[in-house]
Amino acid sequence: MQSLQQPPKDPAFVQNPYPFYERARALGPFFLWDDYTLVCTGNAAAVNAIFRDRRFGREPVDPLPIPPHLAPFYAVEAHSMLELEPPRHTRLRNLVLRAFTSRRIAGLAPDITALATELAESFPRGDFDLLTAFAQPLPVRIIARLLGVPEEMAPDLLRWSNAMVGMYMAGRTREMEDRAIAATTDFVAFLRAYVEERRARPADDLITQLIAAEMEGEKLSTDELISTCILLLNAGHEATVHTIGNGVKTLLETRTPLSALAPDAIEATVEEILRFDPPLHMFTRHAYEEVEVMGHTFRRGDQVGLLLAAANRDPGQWDQPDRFIPTRPAKPHVSFGAGLHFCVGAPLARLELQIALPILFRRHPNLTLVASPAYADVYHFHGLGALRVTT
Ligand code: HEM
Repeated sequence: MQSLQQPPKDPAFVQNPYPFYERARALGPFFLWDDYTLVCTGNAAAVNAIFRDRRFGREPVDPLPIPPHLAPFYAVEAHSMLELEPPRHTRLRNLVLRAFTSRRIAGLAPDITALATELAESFPRGDFDLLTAFAQPLPVRIIARLLGVPEEMAPDLLRWSNAMVGMYMAGRTREMEDRAIAATTDFVAFLRAYVEERRARPADDLITQLIAAEMEGEKLSTDELISTCILLLNAGHEATVHTIGNGVKTLLETRTPLSALAPDAIEATVEEILRFDPPLHMFTRHAYEEVEVMGHTFRRGDQVGLLLAAANRDPGQWDQPDRFIPTRPAKPHVSFGAGLHFCVGAPLARLELQIALPILFRRHPNLTLVASPAYADVYHFHGLGALRVTT
């Protein structure tokens, strides 16, 4: 297996990781990413196979000791379905899915429409940042509403989640860790009090339903409830914010005609946005036994990096993968993962994108980039630092 060097904080890579992915993919199904000392794959077949193979999972075989100053963060992770494998994963995921029904998601459509319209009608004059004016407030306020968290909390939720995702970034510093821990502590304290309030005064929201599930003997502990809410609130907007940002950038840069946002075209356009420039680029898995995938043998405990954005541009899978073609025939991409941990929020994220983008462009058909938008140095996330536009 060949190895490649590519610092994940290299400015050219942050702005455009795709040439590196192409080089890596050309070496074969797997390569050693030197900077992470990690075997990785951007091969679509390998990424799909590993996502779906139960001999791989997210829980490490031999977890590393947790430094005491990071304990509050990992105490939350310890109850997060995203970090667990069956049987605990199954129980937590099923409880969430019971509350997160397709009816409840579809029922959010009028709210998403009203909020997207309200935001699009309140843009400032001159040039402004579309991320803060549109892409951020929409998903954060919708996920807050869904869970039943007051919308006035939106700025806190954004701040906490921004700090917490720092724990997953390349080149994490002690300062980033301290910010993440402070945010975790505040977030947990807020939710603990809020869960108590909801216990006393149930409402028609997801937190109340999760509490009810707990009380019906489903054994969702308060700690599990808090971890689940944090996961939903964080996962529920970070990636959607950046998909809106990356998507608007792509639509404008490629001068995609507005017909791509028409009711009969929007679903395909959103899938192409997700394929072409997804907000999350790498997830890892651990091998639970010796297993061979496309010629590479993993031993128990080995870790593998799955490069979603690279798999989405695998020429073995896609025609002209580097071109944004909203009319391309539907085919599954891996931006929401696959298998057991497939994104719980995919239907909500899709609905938000399918509603918000047409409203934005219908309201502002002359939306124009003011400057070439730059991606933030946040790998393995891939989102813009700002998206300055005029209407
Ligand atoms: C465009 C937006 C989104 C993208 C690209 C995205 C992507 C992903 C990916 C790739 C995974 C799987 C990670 C893995 O297998 O290791 C995942 C899991 C998850 N996502 Fe999303 N997500 C998005 C929006 C959302 C939303 C809106 C919510 C909640 C409302 C959400 C909640 C979750 C949860 C709870 C999991 C964990 C599922 C499990 O472990 O079984 N996501 N997401």
